[in-house]
Amino acid sequence: MKALPSTQTLSETLHEIRLDDYVARHSDPEPPVLRELRHRANLNLVYPRMVSGHLQGRLLKMLVRMIRPRQILEIGTFAAYATICMAEALPEEARITTIEVDEELESFIEKSLTDAGVRDRVELVIADAEQLLQELDLSSYDLVYLDANKRQYPLYYELLMAGLPSGAFILADNTLWGGKVPDPELHDPQTDGIRAFNTLVADDDRVEKVLLPVRDGLTLIHKR
Ligand SMILES: C[S@@+](CC[C@H](N)C(=O)[O-])C[C@H]1O[C@@H](n2cnc3c(N)ncnc32)[C@H](O)[C@@H]1O
Repeated sequence: MKALPSTQTLSETLHEIRLDDYVARHSDPEPPVLRELRHRANLNLVYPRMVSGHLQGRLLKMLVRMIRPRQILEIGTFAAYATICMAEALPEEARITTIEVDEELESFIEKSLTDAGVRDRVELVIADAEQLLQELDLSSYDLVYLDANKRQYPLYYELLMAGLPSGAFILADNTLWGGKVPDPELHDPQTDGIRAFNTLVADDDRVEKVLLPVRDGLTLIHKR
C-alpha cells in the first residue's frame, strides 16, 4: 500500500516511481487511442486524473477476458477510459451500459467511444446512478465496475446486491482512497463513504472479496 505523501522520503518516492515504471514496462502497453484520450482529457477536463490509467486499464481488460461477462454495468463513466478498456475484451454479443451524471461530459464520451471503435457496444446513460439503480433490472448484469460518488458506495452496494444475480462480480475502484481509510482519525465524506463500504463488504457473507492494492485500491467482489 502507498504511504501518505507526507510520511515518504525522497528516496522512497524515487523507488516507488522506478517500481511503477518497471510494472508498466512489463505489462501490455497502453494502446495509442487511450494515450490520445488521456491527452484530450488533460487538455479539456477538470480532474483528468480520474481516468483509470494504463495499469488499471490493462487489468480491467484482463478481468473482462477472464470473466467473459454478457452484460457489464459501469457506474461513473467520466472520459470513458475504463469503458473502452473493458470493451476491448468484450465477448461477441456482450454489451456495456455506462452511467454518468454529468451531462457536460456527453460529447467527450461520445468522441472517445467512436474514436476507439466501440460505440456500437456501449449504451451511455446520462443519469444519477442512485436513481437509475433503483429502476434498472439488474438481473442480466454479470459484471459491475463501481467508480462514481464515493460517499454513496454503501448505498450503491446494497442496491447492487439486491438486484444482481448470483455469480455476478463487482469491481469497486478507489477502495484505499489515497491510503486514508485505515486511519480511524481521518474523516471527510468520501473517506467515511469508502470506509463504510469496505466494512460492509468485509462483513458480508453473501460475497467473496479481495482488496487489491493496485493504484488507489480495487476490490474484487463475487456474489455467491
Ligand atoms: C472516477 S470518475 C470515473 C472514471 C472512469 N470510470 C474511468 O475509470 O476512467 C467518476 C465519475 O462518476 C461520476 N459520478 C459522480 N456521481 C455520480 C452519480 N451520482 N451518478 C452517476 N455518475 C456519477 C462523475 O461525474 C465522474 O465522471
